[in-house]
Amino acid sequence: MKIAVSGDLFSPSAGRLTFSQELLDLWATCDSSFVNLEGPIESAGAPVRKTGPNIFQDPLVVERIASAGLSVTLANNHIMDFGIDGLSTTLAALDARGIKRTGAYTSREERVDLELEDSDGDAVVIVNRCEAEWVQDASGAGAPVLDLVELCRTVKQHKSRGLLPILVLHGGQEMWDLPSPKRRDQARFLAEEGAAAIVYHHTHVPSAWEVWDGVPISYGLGNFSFSMENSDIRFSQGLTAILVVESGRVSMELVPTAFDASSGLVSVMPSDQAGYLERKLMALRSIVESDASLEAHWNQFTRSQAFAAGKLAMPLGYSSGRVGWGVMSRAMAPVLRRLPNELDPLLNAVRCDSHREVLTTVLEARRKVPQE
Ligand SMILES: [Fe+2]
Repeated sequence: MKIAVSGDLFSPSAGRLTFSQELLDLWATCDSSFVNLEGPIESAGAPVRKTGPNIFQDPLVVERIASAGLSVTLANNHIMDFGIDGLSTTLAALDARGIKRTGAYTSREERVDLELEDSDGDAVVIVNRCEAEWVQDASGAGAPVLDLVELCRTVKQHKSRGLLPILVLHGGQEMWDLPSPKRRDQARFLAEEGAAAIVYHHTHVPSAWEVWDGVPISYGLGNFSFSMENSDIRFSQGLTAILVVESGRVSMELVPTAFDASSGLVSVMPSDQAGYLERKLMALRSIVESDASLEAHWNQFTRSQAFAAGKLAMPLGYSSGRVGWGVMSRAMAPVLRRLPNELDPLLNAVRCDSHREVLTTVLEARRKVPQE
């Protein structure tokens, strides 16, 4: 069995979205081919309250997906941008065109991982989860959250039924092409626990990969086609993971792709550019394989995020506030520098699992209090 998994698709004007013949030919060699539909199609639903933009897709995107014979993963941080109305409209449109889907549901009871079997008797299951970033409403409708304990149990259950679990996970640091040391270790742990292959998306850039315990892991497939302004060349590049299932194991080949924002064409990347990207991925792999090197890169990356992290640390909810957070955090920075201990309770609340759990529940409950 051969399965293709591509990264994020966001198309607010899908009339221009097309696929090169080479890409269509590649998908034709596969039993199933997935893209990550990053956001619902346009509907009557209202935008939900969240951080980050609320985005929706041109309904035509469903036609483009159907005519290319693609399937979709839906566990991502935008699928609930327009609440259960947006999700219901999207699921109905996908179902009407017979598009296979997994990763988002209108109720907890509907959740089911997608099983695929070929005529040779190879059987896999696509396990699609997303980091907890506005992915569910209060009733639990939406995408299942990426939770290590749940994933381990699920992997074991599927394996006991003779299914090879392929984990398609949505998470990581946006615009960074490496996993954090913790995310790398969690992926390796899932590989040791029985996952047959692990691919991530959400980082928006082609990211590092490795093989751990015989299990291929991609830490970010990048964008498949993401129509949003971004001057970083990597934003228009992606990887399609070709997963080959044979004798109870999965091997992975990564095929670089490119998206041309002006024409709307997604194609297999020309060989000169692909060669450059592949060399870059090899360099990233050597970083992932070295604890010291990955730690150093993580520290460097987090230094670049200090200003954005400061936004989260702003007291009294000014982070999304009526006073611009940029103004506020600049004004507060000298104060916080003089009073570093002021941030210690925040550090303790987010670093310690038990404290973070309390903080999360309290803040979730706070969202349910009517706002003025
Ligand atoms: Fe995302």
